[in-house]
Amino acid sequence: MAMRWLLLTLALCLPSIATAAEQEGVPECLGCHTLTADVAVHAVFQTVHGGLGGGGSGSCVSCHGASEEHALDPTAMPGVSFGPRRESAAAERAGACLGCHSGGGALHWAGSEHQREGMVCDSCHDSHRQQDPALTDTQAQQACLSCHTRVQAELLLPSRHPIAEGKTNCGDCHNPHGSLGEASLHQASVNDSCLQCHQEKRGPFLWEHPPAAEDCSLCHRPHGAIHERLLTARGPALCQQCHVAAFHPSLPYGAEGLAGGSGNQNVLGKNCLNCHSQVHGSNHPSGARLTR
Ligand code: HEC
Ligand code: HEC
Ligand code: HEC
Ligand code: HEC
Ligand code: HEC
Ligand code: HEC
Ligand code: HEC
Ligand code: HEC
Ligand code: HEC
Ligand code: HEC
Repeated sequence: MAMRWLLLTLALCLPSIATAAEQEGVPECLGCHTLTADVAVHAVFQTVHGGLGGGGSGSCVSCHGASEEHALDPTAMPGVSFGPRRESAAAERAGACLGCHSGGGALHWAGSEHQREGMVCDSCHDSHRQQDPALTDTQAQQACLSCHTRVQAELLLPSRHPIAEGKTNCGDCHNPHGSLGEASLHQASVNDSCLQCHQEKRGPFLWEHPPAAEDCSLCHRPHGAIHERLLTARGPALCQQCHVAAFHPSLPYGAEGLAGGSGNQNVLGKNCLNCHSQVHGSNHPSGARLTR
C-alpha cells in the first residue's frame, strides 16, 4: 500500500503525466492509476469491461462514475467506491452495475432474497480480476457455502447430489440473482428443475403416480439426505405417509390406522418397492398399480 501511495504521489508530481485532459481541467484516471502503480486495477483490461466507454479511462468512469472531484483531489472519494474504504451505499453500488445489467440473468434482482439481505453485486463479483471468481464454478460454490452452512452440511450426508464433486452446481438449479420461481430456482417449479437432467422421469405416463407429477420434493431432498436416493424417508414409511389406508401395509396397522393389529403376511416387513417398482409412473399396459 505504501508503495502504491509513493508511486501515485510521484505520478502526481511528474509534469509529463499532466496530459491533454488536464487542459480541460480534469486529469485522466489512468494518468494517476498507472499500470505500475495499480497492477491489480489494470486487470480490468483483461476482461470484457476493459472496453467500456471507449476503453482506457472511459472504462473506469463507466463503473466508478465521472469522479471529477476525486481526480482533482484524490483525498475525495470517487463517484462510486466499492473497496473496503467505500463511501457508496448498497443501492448506489448495485446501481452502477444495473445500469447495464438490469436484464438478462439479473432481471429479478430487485426483491430477490439476496438483495433484501443487503447483498450487492460486488459481494460475489470482482471486476478487477481477469477471472471473476463468481464465474468459476468451484470458487462460486465455496462462496455460496461460506454463508449457506446448512446446505454445506447436507452435501456431506450419505446420499447426495454430486455437487461437491462438481458434477452439478448451485447455479444449475438456482439463480443467485433471484427468479420468479420458489427458492430462486431458474425454472418455474421444482419439477421443471429436476427434469432438466432427469428427463426420463418426465411424463406423461399411461399410469401416473400423482405425487411424482406434482412435486419431486414430496419424496426427495435436493441437496442431500440420510436415506439412499436422496429420499425424505425410508422404505414403507415413505409410502405410508400417504398410503396409510392401503389394504396391505408393510407395517401392521389396526382398523383405526394406528400401529398394532395384524398385517398381511405377504407384505409385512417388505418394502413397497419390491412390487411397486415404478413409483415415478408406468407406461406398461398393465402397470396400473405401478408394479411394472
Ligand atoms: C490525481 C491522481 C488521481 C486521479 C486523476 C484519479 N485518481 Fe483515483 N485515486 C488516486 C489515489 C492517490 C487514490 C488512493 C490510492 C489507493 O489507496 O489505492 C485513488 C483511489 C481511487 C479509488 C479507490 C477508492 C477506494 O475505494 O478506496 C477509485 C475507485 C478510484 N481512485 C477511481 C478513479 C477514477 C474512476 C478516476 C478517473 C475519473 C480516478 N480515480 C482518477 C489518485 C487519482
Ligand atoms: C465493471 C466495473 C468496473 C470497472 C470498469 C472498473 N472498476 Fe474499479 N472497481 C469495481 C469494483 C466492483 C471494485 C471493488 C472490487 C472488490 O470487491 O475488491 C472496484 C475497486 C476499485 C479500486 C479499489 C481497489 C481496492 O483494493 O480497494 C480502485 C482503485 C479502482 N477500482 C479503480 C479503477 C480504475 C482506475 C478503473 C479503470 C481502469 C476501474 N476501477 C474500472 C468496478 C469497476
Ligand atoms: C457500461 C455498461 C456496463 C457496466 C456499468 C457494467 N457492465 Fe458488466 N458487462 C457489460 C457488457 C457489455 C458485458 C459483456 C456482454 C454481456 O455479457 O452482457 C458485461 C459482462 C459482464 C459479466 C460477464 C463477464 C463474462 O466474462 O462473461 C459480468 C459477471 C458482469 N458484466 C458484471 C458486472 C458488474 C458486477 C458490474 C458492476 C460492478 C458491471 N458488470 C458493470 C457492461 C457493463
Ligand atoms: C450471491 C452471489 C451473487 C451476487 C450477489 C450477484 N451475482 Fe452475478 N453471478 C453470480 C454467479 C455465481 C454467476 C455465474 C452464473 C450463474 O451461476 O448463474 C453470476 C453471473 C453474472 C453475470 C453473467 C451471466 C448472467 O447471468 O447474465 C452477470 C452479468 C452478473 N452476474 C451480474 C450481476 C449483477 C449486476 C449483480 C448485482 C445486481 C450480481 N450479478 C450479483 C453470483 C452473484
Ligand atoms: C454473504 C452471504 C451469502 C452468500 C455468499 C450467498 N448467500 Fe444465498 N442467501 C443468503 C441469505 C442471508 C439468504 C436468506 C436467508 C436464507 O434463505 O438462508 C440467502 C438465500 C438464498 C436462497 C433462497 C432464496 C429464495 O428465494 O428463497 C438461495 C437459493 C441462495 N441463497 C443461494 C445462493 C447461492 C447459489 C449462492 C452462491 C452463488 C449464495 N446463495 C451466496 C446469504 C448468502
Ligand atoms: C439439483 C438442484 C439443486 C442444486 C444443485 C442446488 N439446489 Fe438448493 N435447492 C434446490 C431446490 C429444489 C430447493 C427448494 C427445496 C424445497 O422447496 O423443498 C432448494 C433450496 C435451497 C435453499 C433454500 C432452502 C434451504 O434449504 O435452505 C438454499 C439456501 C439453497 N437451496 C442453496 C443451495 C446452494 C448453496 C447450492 C450449491 C451448493 C444448491 N442450493 C444447490 C435445488 C438445488
Ligand atoms: C444439473 C443436473 C441435475 C439436476 C438439475 C438434478 N439432478 Fe439429480 N442427479 C444428477 C446427477 C449427475 C446425479 C448422479 C447420477 C449418477 O451418479 O449416476 C443425480 C442423481 C440423482 C438421484 C439419485 C441419487 C443416488 O443416490 O443415486 C436422485 C434421486 C436425484 N438425482 C433426484 C433429483 C431431484 C429430485 C432433482 C430436482 C430437485 C434433481 N435430481 C435435479 C444431476 C441432476
Ligand atoms: C412418491 C415418491 C417419489 C416421488 C414423488 C419422486 N420419486 Fe424419485 N424415487 C423414489 C423412490 C422410492 C426411488 C428409489 C427407487 C429405487 O431405489 O428403485 C426414487 C429414485 C429416483 C432416482 C434414482 C433412480 C432412478 O430411478 O433413476 C431419480 C433420478 C429420481 N428418483 C428422480 C425423481 C424426479 C426427477 C422426481 C420428480 C419428477 C421424483 N423422483 C419424484 C420416489 C419418488
Ligand atoms: C405424497 C403422497 C404420496 C406418497 C408419498 C406416495 N403416494 Fe402413491 N399415490 C398417491 C396418490 C395421491 C395416488 C393416487 C390415488 C388414487 O388415484 O386414488 C397414489 C397412487 C398409488 C398407487 C396406485 C394406486 C391405484 O389405485 O392405482 C400405487 C401402487 C402407489 N401409489 C404406490 C406408492 C408407493 C409404493 C409409494 C412409496 C414409494 C407411494 N405410493 C408414495 C400419493 C402418494
Ligand atoms: C408383495 C407385493 C406387494 C407389496 C410388498 C406391496 N404391494 Fe401394493 N399391491 C400389490 C398388488 C399385486 C396390488 C394390486 C392388487 C389388485 O389389483 O387387486 C397392489 C395394490 C396396491 C394399491 C392400490 C390399492 C387399491 O385400492 O386399488 C396401493 C395404493 C398399494 N398397493 C400400495 C402399497 C404400499 C403403500 C405398499 C407398502 C406399504 C405396498 N403396496 C406393498 C403388491 C404389493
